[in-house]
Amino acid sequence: MSTNDAGSGATGRPLWHGRFGAGPSEELLAFTVSLPYDRRLAVDDLAGSRAHVNMLNKVGLLTAEERAIIVAALDRAEEELAAGSFSFAPTDEDIHTAIERRVTELAGATGAKLHTGRSRNDQIALDLRLFLRREGRELVARIDQLQRVLVHRAEEAEDTYVPGYTHLQRAQPVLLAHHLLAHVWALTRDFDRWRDALARADVSPLGAGALAGSSLPLDPDRVADELGFAKRFDNSLDAVSDRDFVAEALFVLALTQVHLSRLGEEVVLWSSEEFGFLHLADEYSTGSSMLPQKKNPDIAELARGKAGRVIGQLTGFLATLKGLPLSYNRDLQEDKEPLFDAMDTCALTLSAMTGLLATCTFDRERMQAAADTASSSATDLAEELVRRGMPFREAHGIVGSLVRHSHERGVPLDELVMTEPSLGPEALVFLEPGAAVLRRTSPGGAGPGPVAEQLEIVKARLVAQRAWLES
Ligand code: ARG
Repeated sequence: MSTNDAGSGATGRPLWHGRFGAGPSEELLAFTVSLPYDRRLAVDDLAGSRAHVNMLNKVGLLTAEERAIIVAALDRAEEELAAGSFSFAPTDEDIHTAIERRVTELAGATGAKLHTGRSRNDQIALDLRLFLRREGRELVARIDQLQRVLVHRAEEAEDTYVPGYTHLQRAQPVLLAHHLLAHVWALTRDFDRWRDALARADVSPLGAGALAGSSLPLDPDRVADELGFAKRFDNSLDAVSDRDFVAEALFVLALTQVHLSRLGEEVVLWSSEEFGFLHLADEYSTGSSMLPQKKNPDIAELARGKAGRVIGQLTGFLATLKGLPLSYNRDLQEDKEPLFDAMDTCALTLSAMTGLLATCTFDRERMQAAADTASSSATDLAEELVRRGMPFREAHGIVGSLVRHSHERGVPLDELVMTEPSLGPEALVFLEPGAAVLRRTSPGGAGPGPVAEQLEIVKARLVAQRAWLES
C-alpha cells in the first residue's frame, strides 16, 4: 500500500487529510486499526448515525432531502454489511471510518455531511453503550435460564438431602434443594448487578464532540431520546472519556464467572468417584483419548478455568484506565476486546453449565449415605441438651467428647449416647437416618419447611425477572 493513498474518505484520503502532507504509514495503520473487532459494533454505529442525521435535520444543519440521501446510504451500507458484500478498504481503520467512507461513496458531497458536529470520540462511546444494552440483556437472559434450571432441579429433588460442608468437611445435612438454591441466590445478585450497571450506562454521550461540544446548534437530548436512552451526558469531557460502564460490566462478568467457577468446582468434586453425588450426561461430558473408562467434567473445569481469563480482562482494563488524563485518549480503544471477550466467555459458560445441570443425575443414595453418618447429628444432640436446660458451651463439650471417644475407641456413637446420663436412649432418635435435616426448621434454614418457603420466594423472583427481561 502506498503511504499516500492511506485514508478513508471516498477520495481515499484519511479523515484528517487537510492537516497532513503525507498519509499514514503501513506500520501506523497496522498498529492502530480496530476494525477486526469493532466491526461487531456496526449495527450500533448505524443506529447512532441515523439518530445523528435526524437531529442534524431537525436543527437545520441538513435539509430533509440531504437527510433522506444519507439515510438511504446508511441503509444500503447496512444491507451490504448484513449480506457480507460490504467491501472494506485497507485504509478502513475502524467501523466508523468504514461506514462513513461507504456513505460518502454512495452519497457524494451530501454523505460528507454525516460527520457534522460529531467526533469518533463521542461516536465510539455511544456505540459501545448501545452494544452493552443490546448484548447485556442477552447475557442477563442466560443467567435467568441457568437459575430456572437450578430451581427446577431443586423442586425435583424434593426431600433428598446431602452433606452440607464447611472447610470441605461434612458439617450438617442439608436438603439438596437448599444447596442448589444457594447458587441461585448468587446468580440473583448478578442479575441485579447487571440491571444496575445497565441503568448507569443508560446515558447518551453523542453531542460531546471530540471533547468540548460544538459551536453548531446540536441537540443531544433529541439524539438520546430517539435512541431510547434515559438521558444525555452532562459533561462533554466526561462523556468521551468515561469507561466506567465498561469496567462495571467487566466486574459483573468477572463475578458471574467466579460464581460459575464455584459451581463448576462442585460439579467436578461431586462427579468424582470419591463423592459420586452426581453423574454427568454423555452429551455434557468428555472422554479420554487414552483411558477408556474416563468420563470427564470438562465443561465444569473450563467454567472454573475461564474465571481467570475474565478476571484478567477486568484487571487489565482497570490498569488501562488508571493513568489516563482527561479526556479521550487512544488507550480507550483497548476497551472493546476485553469487553467482547468477557461477554462471550461468560455467555458460553452460562449456556454450557445450564445444559450440564439440566441433564446430570443426582445420586440420592450416595448423597444420603454420606449425610447419614452418626456424627453429622452432633449439633442436634447438643441442641437437645440445650432444650433440656444445659448451657450450649457445656452441651458442646459433652457431645464433642462422645464423638472423640467414639473415634478413639472405635465404639459406635449411638452406644455412647445411650449410656451418657445427660442424653440416654430417648436421644437415639437424633441419630436416625435423615433425622438431622428435618430439624433444620429456623427461617432460611436447610430443612423442608424453610426450603419450601424459600422456593416460593425464588419463584416469585423469577417471575419478576421475566417481567424485567421482557420490558
Ligand atoms: N477506534 C477508536 C476507539 O475505539 C475510535 C475513536 C478514535 N478517535 C480518535 N481520536 N482517534 O476508541
